[in-house]
Amino acid sequence: MMEPRERLIFALDVERFGDAQKLAGLLKGHVGLFKVGKQLFTHAGPKVIDMIRNKGERIFLDLKFHDIPNTVAKAAEEATKLGSAMFTVHSMGGYEMMKRAVESSRNIAKHLNIPRPLILAVTILTSMDEVILEEVGIKTPLKQQVVRLATLAKRAGVNGVIASPREIRLIRDHCGAHFLIVTPGVRPASATKDDQKRTLTPGEAVRAGADYIVVGRPIKEADDPVKAADEIVEEIS
Ligand code: C5P
Repeated sequence: MMEPRERLIFALDVERFGDAQKLAGLLKGHVGLFKVGKQLFTHAGPKVIDMIRNKGERIFLDLKFHDIPNTVAKAAEEATKLGSAMFTVHSMGGYEMMKRAVESSRNIAKHLNIPRPLILAVTILTSMDEVILEEVGIKTPLKQQVVRLATLAKRAGVNGVIASPREIRLIRDHCGAHFLIVTPGVRPASATKDDQKRTLTPGEAVRAGADYIVVGRPIKEADDPVKAADEIVEEIS
């Protein structure tokens, strides 16, 4: 059984290393993982990962790898060597790409005797709707496409998917109880929604079947980020 706090992933979406350092220091021990995304990683690189890990905290490296299988396999190896607890790939890269990511991560972890990170797949980005899917030549209805990609990811050995609150039940039904579901777009009832349109509260998301929830701005922009994080953990529990 996971502790409620372990289920809370804080999206460390900041521009500068100093801001990341400040928030990591403040929220250490109050969230389960720190999600480092494309902006912060492109700006600060592996030193931001080391900084967080040196505080004893866990990393979700959200770089959404999508390339030829060999390149993604190499990137997965590096994400593993960095000590990430979780990282992401795009399921649209296909079965072979995901499988190679899983294998290379497993092999290097074994070789170095370090823990193997969880690998999560993005299905369809929540910024996409059926109009945009059609734009790129996908005529399958969106939900059907999400299920198709989630089951493909599972078959490739990926541990779970990133899913919008709306897709949790659908994926749970098709992929079973042990497939991890990580859900962004979560807002405590008291917080503003920002640009997230289809939100659930932390309690609703967990009740709907999410294993982990991702929350950024409601914590980062709170007057008291620690209190905001603690309240979310309380709601999860
Ligand atoms: O600040 P907020 O709580 O909206 O942050 C949510 C985080 O989850 C951001 O890092 C965002 O990029 C990410 N995310 C999302 N929706 C997705 C995939 C990722 O909001 N479908």
